[in-house]
Amino acid sequence: MYQERRRIVITGVTRGLGRALAEYLAKEGHVIAGCARSRAGIEALGHELGSPHTFSVVDVASVEEVEQWARAVVNDGGPPDLLINNAGLINRNAPLWEVPAEEFSRVVDVNLKGTAYVMRAFLPSMVERGSGVVVNVSSGWGRSVSPSVAPYCATKWGVEGLSFAVAQEVPRGLAVVALNPGVIHTEMLQSAFGAGAAASPGPADWVRRAVPFILDIGPDQNGDALSVP
Ligand SMILES: NC(=O)c1ccc[n+]([C@@H]2O[C@H](COP(=O)([O-])OP(=O)(O)OC[C@H]3O[C@@H](n4cnc5c(N)ncnc54)[C@H](OP(=O)(O)O)[C@@H]3O)[C@@H](O)[C@H]2O)c1
Repeated sequence: MYQERRRIVITGVTRGLGRALAEYLAKEGHVIAGCARSRAGIEALGHELGSPHTFSVVDVASVEEVEQWARAVVNDGGPPDLLINNAGLINRNAPLWEVPAEEFSRVVDVNLKGTAYVMRAFLPSMVERGSGVVVNVSSGWGRSVSPSVAPYCATKWGVEGLSFAVAQEVPRGLAVVALNPGVIHTEMLQSAFGAGAAASPGPADWVRRAVPFILDIGPDQNGDALSVP
């Protein structure tokens, strides 16, 4: 399984875990269709990895943008074998009553609604074909909580519930799982941990552990709550 060339869709590819996944999986011979909001980041990745990979400017919180992107990706090369819902953002550290309503909404729109929009755009083609794996990137904070990140925790607990419910909707042959990636030194971790983030491994170390684990996920794990070892 691990050796086959897969068609892999990844959201949030311009930095952090998504970028590390796109670069590593492309170098392993898989074909990537990735997205994020930053045009400069998307263009840089396009130049770096080139054809047959495709990178698009898409805000996962926009249902129209997601649907247009999914149509183009599926028309271009068929349904994904693996869909990694990785795009996410975290609120600035603050007790809930100090988080502006706009910021709370944005975290929900990207982390929870964005994950749902991407699944609902790609899953029909995967269901029709009868195979494929959806990995929804959750968090340790989708299974436990900490102060100052309540909006983020709420969305990641939501991602877990969403994943397990959709897992009961897909036919045999597909899998929808929630994945806790661990604790990795990225811009997001710096927002939550400050200077302490540097004590954690970086994306380059993480991706070497994460990729074999993710590529091994199969239909038997449908509905599982997984963690990168
Ligand atoms: N780092 C950790 O320790 C850790 C722990 C647990 C869970 N996670 C989860 O792992 C995932 C990746 O986190 P990370 O640490 O790599 O974060 P990061 O460094 O902040 O990167 C986030 C990525 O998501 C993209 N993104 C953000 N909003 C988007 C939107 N609306 N539409 C499309 N793309 C969007 C960003 O690109 P643009 O700004 O260009 O859009 C960027 O490429 C997230 O789901 C996060 O919750 C991370």
